[in-house]
Amino acid sequence: MNDKKRAARGERTIMAVGKSAQDETWSGKAAFVLAAIGSAVGIGNLVRFPYVAGDSGGGAFVLIYLLAVFAIGLPVLMAELFIGRRGGGTPIAAIQRLAKADGASGSWTLMGWIGMFASFGIVTFYSVIAGWLLYYAYVMVGDIAGNIGANGIAGIASPAFAGEDADGITGRFGALLSSPGKMILFHGIFITISTFIVTRGVKGGIEKAATWLMPIFFFLLVALSVISLIIGDAGAALGFLFAPDFGKLAADIKDGSVLINAVGQAFFSLSLGSALMLTYGIYLGRDTSIPNAATTVAFADTGVALIAGLAVFPVVFAFGLEPAGGLGLIFGPLLLAFNQMPFGALFGLAFFIMAVFAALTSAISLFEVPAAWAKGDNTLDEATRGRRRVIGSVIIGILIFVIGVFHALSQVPTDAADTFFNSWEPFGSLPVIGERTLLDAIDGLTGNVLLPLGGFLVAVFAGYVVTQSASREELGFKSVSNYQRWRFLIRYVCPVVVGAILVYGIGIAPFLG
Ligand code: TRP
Repeated sequence: MNDKKRAARGERTIMAVGKSAQDETWSGKAAFVLAAIGSAVGIGNLVRFPYVAGDSGGGAFVLIYLLAVFAIGLPVLMAELFIGRRGGGTPIAAIQRLAKADGASGSWTLMGWIGMFASFGIVTFYSVIAGWLLYYAYVMVGDIAGNIGANGIAGIASPAFAGEDADGITGRFGALLSSPGKMILFHGIFITISTFIVTRGVKGGIEKAATWLMPIFFFLLVALSVISLIIGDAGAALGFLFAPDFGKLAADIKDGSVLINAVGQAFFSLSLGSALMLTYGIYLGRDTSIPNAATTVAFADTGVALIAGLAVFPVVFAFGLEPAGGLGLIFGPLLLAFNQMPFGALFGLAFFIMAVFAALTSAISLFEVPAAWAKGDNTLDEATRGRRRVIGSVIIGILIFVIGVFHALSQVPTDAADTFFNSWEPFGSLPVIGERTLLDAIDGLTGNVLLPLGGFLVAVFAGYVVTQSASREELGFKSVSNYQRWRFLIRYVCPVVVGAILVYGIGIAPFLG
């Protein structure tokens, strides 16, 4: 029996260091690619990309972002996948086994712990923001019901919030933030669904969710951006996103935050640096080509981010809103877009349901990193691991819920109520992460510090610790020159660029004054 056949049956092969029959596997290449895209595409593309691009001035940022995705993100993505597949077991155990096989120190597992901490930290606020999307879907249902009640079935053709003025509509977001009860309720619903899916494991849960939800999501997103380009200011949006202003860039770059934001966003959007792709690599069969799958994921993820930008910015400019609008950017203008189109309420409902689905396939992936660890290494028997997955997921789900409540309270405007969390800045005035309330502080700590740090460590590990023959064999590039290109990027470009940006952005730029 050859290795391929063994692998297809999930048996130990001579190549892998620690992959075992106990490891769950995806049912095939397509299922894995959809699950990985499901993880990558989410709030990071729909909400975070437009607002980070807006805050960082548009075109020039987008250009740096694209460089960061393909020169840094893509090689790191391949590295995480092969480390997971070769090591097997849990994210921590996989790293430990590879380090041992190559005679390196066991402290490399620190990389896994940082990743686990980052994944957990992200999902605690991710679920709150997903709750906002869910709430918007619920509001649309109410709007449609009202229209049908008033005009009979013809009411279905009505735009969203018919008769309300623009201020009233964008003001709905502020009203949501002033109602912690609503935020907590919808966060609770979202995390309960996520927990349920994660307890069901890879094939029965994550994979099923992704194969159904992702294709519908993609179709609706494209439709929305076409409509937005038609009813909004397409010229201004295209100029903002794709015409780089290098003069402004040269001025901004001293600040360091543009670079940190671009690299941080690339890691966040591709789900890198948090051991997530490493974890999904554990479930990856040997017959899947890592370079091909990773490239597909990177293109799909970047495409969705750009299309999301095309859905948001035409409306932003048409209504004279500030592109640097923070989180409110997406939660205000999008509602206006649905107010401007026939069938807007119905379309809005479809869109928010899809956005919730995209967020769901990402949240379960973040959740899966600590869940895979709770499940235990592949030296345990299958029944024990199954039991540990369920119990561990429930405990982790409860923790996420509780911390998420604090995040929700941190978003309440201080003039609406004093929740303690809305004036508490956990990191004081530290650079990059300080002077922010809990949600933004954890977002900054994970996205701009821990993920790039995790990615830096993955690059050094894959480029210097793992032997060349091992990485070549596991990645299985068809051409030698492509392998050499990967190795050059992972050994020199990724660690040097990410390391320099971290040191400059965190250690130097904030003190330049
Ligand atoms: N990439 C997802 C998004 O863009 C979020 C996400 C899922 C993530 N898994 C991750 C981010 C792991 C960082 C690390 O919405």
